Amino acid sequence: MKPIFIDCDTGVDDALAILAALQSPQVEVLGISTVAGNVEADAAFRNTLAVLELVSADSIPVAKGMEAPLTRTLTTAKEVHGESGLGNLTLPDVAGKGMTEHGVDFLIRTVKQSDRPVTLVLLGPLTNMAVALKKDPSIANNIAELVIMGGADAAGGNVTPVAEFNIYVDPEAARIVLESGLPTRLVTWDVCLDAWLTEAELKELEQSAEPAANVAHELIQFLRTLYNKDHSALSDPAAMCALLDESVIESESLPIEVETAGTVTRGMTVIDTRPFATIPVTNDARPRVQVARKLYRERFAAVFMNALMRK
Ligand code: BDR
Ligand code: CA
Repeated sequence: MKPIFIDCDTGVDDALAILAALQSPQVEVLGISTVAGNVEADAAFRNTLAVLELVSADSIPVAKGMEAPLTRTLTTAKEVHGESGLGNLTLPDVAGKGMTEHGVDFLIRTVKQSDRPVTLVLLGPLTNMAVALKKDPSIANNIAELVIMGGADAAGGNVTPVAEFNIYVDPEAARIVLESGLPTRLVTWDVCLDAWLTEAELKELEQSAEPAANVAHELIQFLRTLYNKDHSALSDPAAMCALLDESVIESESLPIEVETAGTVTRGMTVIDTRPFATIPVTNDARPRVQVARKLYRERFAAVFMNALMRK
């Protein structure tokens, strides 16, 4: 079992990714830190605890991290995730649960105490990770990989034509993390548009004997009502499934920069996919990460569903 640590802003699709990880025999979830993003910090913390409680996984430690982006005012996405952040789900009472340790300190401690290098799955704005790297750069020595849901390539973003939500909310944090030099896989918004389930697959989740699959079904139905689309992008599960099975997503090592100064391009991930540049780039100092180029929908669906249904 690969040891993983999840950092998220629990919204609907974060919840789905958490459920898949909890159910999968391939990963061991060491802990979860939460961050302000889709909803405010308190709600992201509560939602995470609620999801764990719903599937009797409340032994997984959860700590609340940063309450705002590094320098910007928080932008939420309640229009996508619903007022609570978890669609129409009835949330159990989790008052008083969870850790009192700060999420950033918990992340640092978990990574340093692990007897094996930890994979960090980052599903929200990158504020906690950026602060952790600044506070204790030595964590890099025990990190296997970062798997990040964030950014957008040529097909465009979701918050703006060029920016994806997680990067848009805290571009300064994203820049710190992407410039860290850590081995990183970036699962961008454009490939996540292919991460969806068919009616028949959804029916299977609904009829499964696994409570996690039933909760996932309810959450996905909420997402599907958005903009009256019959399918919607399961972005955080796409990142989690790319970790569970590398063949779900094809990636390529590419130079990347985050736009932090732009007015209309705030949070844009400028990914250099040019086969050759008009003016050749010499001494290229730009960070390079593994950027997702293609997601295979059937493989994604199989990995996601098998995890949820423990098949
Ligand atoms: C990302 O932003 C959030 O709304 C989702 O939870 C996902 O992490 C998609 O852009
Ligand atoms: Ca998220």
